[in-house]
Amino acid sequence: MKVFLETYGCQMNEYDSELVRAILSKHNYEFCATADEAEVVFLNTCAVREGAQQKIYHRLNDLKNRRQSGKIRVLGILGCVAQSLRKELSETIPLLDIVAGPDSYKKLPELINTVLQQGGQGFEFSLSEYETYDDIVPARVAGVNAWIAIMRGCNNFCTFCVVPYTRGRERSRSPHSIVAEARKIVSEGFPQITLLGQNVNSYQCDGKDFADLMEMMPDVAGLRRVRFTSPHPKDFSRRLLHVMAAHPELCKHIHLPLQAGSDHILERMNRTYTKQDFLTLVAEIRQVLPQVSLTTDIICGFCGESEEDFAHTLDVVEKVGFDSAFIFKYSVRPHTIAARKYPDDVPDEVKTGRVMRLNELQRNISRQRNEAEIGKTFEVLIEGPSKKSPHEWYGLTEYNKGTVFSAPDKKPGDFVQVNVTAAGTHTLLGRLV
Ligand code: SAH
Ligand code: SF4
Ligand code: F3S
Repeated sequence: MKVFLETYGCQMNEYDSELVRAILSKHNYEFCATADEAEVVFLNTCAVREGAQQKIYHRLNDLKNRRQSGKIRVLGILGCVAQSLRKELSETIPLLDIVAGPDSYKKLPELINTVLQQGGQGFEFSLSEYETYDDIVPARVAGVNAWIAIMRGCNNFCTFCVVPYTRGRERSRSPHSIVAEARKIVSEGFPQITLLGQNVNSYQCDGKDFADLMEMMPDVAGLRRVRFTSPHPKDFSRRLLHVMAAHPELCKHIHLPLQAGSDHILERMNRTYTKQDFLTLVAEIRQVLPQVSLTTDIICGFCGESEEDFAHTLDVVEKVGFDSAFIFKYSVRPHTIAARKYPDDVPDEVKTGRVMRLNELQRNISRQRNEAEIGKTFEVLIEGPSKKSPHEWYGLTEYNKGTVFSAPDKKPGDFVQVNVTAAGTHTLLGRLV
């Protein structure tokens, strides 16, 4: 049978889709490129913002006719929307055959069989304290980067965030199994590994913390680049910085989510750090890793955010000078503490206005920081053709900067030296050295 699997959301979902591909391939399912050819269709979904969830409803609406006519025999929802809206989905969308949360993918073959043989719906949502899928080798997408989820779940309960409810509690996978998987990945030709976790630096297993694990990675022969995402500022140890400084394989890029700049809002968000804590951490990071690039996530218009609160966010953004930032408008998520405790009282147009102002500030900073790279030479790992100019290559520097250049004799997976000749807000342009 042919399966079509469509993935939304974060890198963890991309990784989970690779697990699902591996699990179903073992049971002789074949994967195809479009929903039109498939008898089984799964959407691996994201619930982090209202907009992400709306996308899923629209997509289900697109697929409705094919399910009704029987061309699609099994239609299922996986991932975070499945876990978060399990009841609502199964009751209001009778066309859904399977609703399975992120810890139940090993049961998918059984669920599909049940639906096909007995009809009716198959549901599986139980979140697990233990499931790490460390016995499944993901069916990876060819390319230069391989993901490894080293921990799953989140115990932080930031008040705006649905993830602890969709992904359950934190659990880490053994360092031994991670290193073994890294060796296998490198032997398959991937030069780069990205370690994933909802809260990656709270990793803790068999007496090893995240800094210990990072220190073990360069021992994997042939592994050229290691990245990680996303860390939480509260779990960022000095030792991790020194480990990063000591090993050229550990890329000098840190995605450090700020979320807000005002102490009042940070407290309401349960982020457990203050504006000053964050600025101090950034200073420490830059002291140990002077060249580091820093990126962040910020939410505008969280409950109770005044103009003065927002001014603190602008201030942190200006003081830190992030290389880039993902800026979001706050949206209320079901189950969360904020949804229960605080009214969503910032008017939508004010939220939008703040997102625009912050984006404009960040664009200027990003451009300035990129322009400062002109004249320097970086090692770039070629990922593939540039989207805008297909005769040129696109790749990332160690510092996570997208770089476009021409090199007719090179190919994806090659490492090259590129001298930066021009810079925009999002990309560097360069020539091969
Ligand atoms: N574990 C990651 C976050 C994953 S969600 C971390 O702690 O960094 C990715 C980003 O989505 C968050 O960093 C936050 O900026 C944003 N986000 C989460 N919930 C949101 C909400 N209710 N409204 C708007 N943005 C949200
Ligand atoms: Fe959500 Fe906070 Fe956990 Fe990140 S750390 S996943 S923002 S609860
Ligand atoms: Fe979305 Fe779930 Fe990831 S809510 S951001 S897919 S953890």
